Amino acid sequence: MRAKEMDTQVATEALRLLSSALIDATQLESALQEAGSIAPLDPQMSAEEMAAFVEFVAESGNPRQGERIYRREGLLCMTCHAIGGAGGSLGPDLTSLGASAPMDYIVDSLLLPQKKIKEGYHVVSVETKEGTSFAGTLESEDDRTITLRDPSDRKVVIAQADIRSQTISPVSLMPQGLTASLRRDELADLVSFLSVLGKEGDYKVSSKNWVCRFQYLDNQGGSSGFADILRHKPFGYVTSEDPRFEWKPLYAQVDGSLPLDEVPAMRLHRTGYHYMRFHINVGKAGCIALKWNGPSGHLWVGSREIESESDRFEFDAKVGLTTITLGIPESKSTGQEFSMEIVDIKDSTAQVQAINGR
Ligand code: HEC
Repeated sequence: MRAKEMDTQVATEALRLLSSALIDATQLESALQEAGSIAPLDPQMSAEEMAAFVEFVAESGNPRQGERIYRREGLLCMTCHAIGGAGGSLGPDLTSLGASAPMDYIVDSLLLPQKKIKEGYHVVSVETKEGTSFAGTLESEDDRTITLRDPSDRKVVIAQADIRSQTISPVSLMPQGLTASLRRDELADLVSFLSVLGKEGDYKVSSKNWVCRFQYLDNQGGSSGFADILRHKPFGYVTSEDPRFEWKPLYAQVDGSLPLDEVPAMRLHRTGYHYMRFHINVGKAGCIALKWNGPSGHLWVGSREIESESDRFEFDAKVGLTTITLGIPESKSTGQEFSMEIVDIKDSTAQVQAINGR
């Protein structure tokens, strides 16, 4: 396709359609980018460029598309940031970012993380007398020890007596250039999403008791060895704690729903299944109800399968940590979303909470 001039709006829309079409359209994409003058952004923006970009976000940013970009595995946003308690904790929680931060601040935080490092998130570097170096954000400090949270979100405790030097780094733990691969319109979508977080409307975390953190069973690239583990086992075998199973984290969107297209399916028997699980903490025993929104499937409490009454699963729960496993047939799932809500039962003594976080 030869590049002719094209209205930026039209080109942006076309690119958006392409990126959701899951085909390799690199050539077409670059032609569209050229025709619509949509180029990646230079992080060092002048005041005018920033004003123009902020206007572009306001005019054509699409928060829904932006949430999908935020969720892309390769961008790593969710490994460091949480929204509504779901996600990593190395970076600040973004639940109400949009309600408190102006758009140009958000753009700067993505393009130039070290320009304004958020209070409490400075990187502290410590060198011990033995010559080992540690770096991380300061979790706590007292007379005897200093506790850092390192870039892989682990706590490191160092005795004060072992420390030779301690410095505050001017660099943010958030890597610069993370969004460099994004086109201008994609960045606008992402900023538009971040800037509505916490405002009244679709992007305010709901007070409903949603399950926000799931885990999915990874099919390890569809390896046949992996399929064999399941093939010769009974249907509910996924609920076993087989150490060969790799469960990976998966977070719901701000509205509590999970796009099933993001969950790989296991092909066994004749139908493929999306297997997911989550954990609840039962503080007081009693009857619990889970409301299932989405294409129907199977639900196990521990290793016991529960029958549903329409979209509700009710069961008696004992005190402690309980694993709930879900199996959703693939054929029903195309383009669908799924969410799970813990609902109150009248007169039940149960106290229960989903385990969210990382
Ligand atoms: C390796 C961890 C890490 C990754 C990955 C990461 N961030 Fe950050 N982010 C941080 C840290 C730490 C801060 C706070 C320090 C700072 O202000 O630079 C931060 C700050 C921010 C802020 C400013 C928040 C505020 O309240 O001031 C925004 C917005 C943000 N990140 C968005 C993102 C997005 C979007 C992505 C994915 C493209 C992302 N981050 C990926 C660690 C990370």
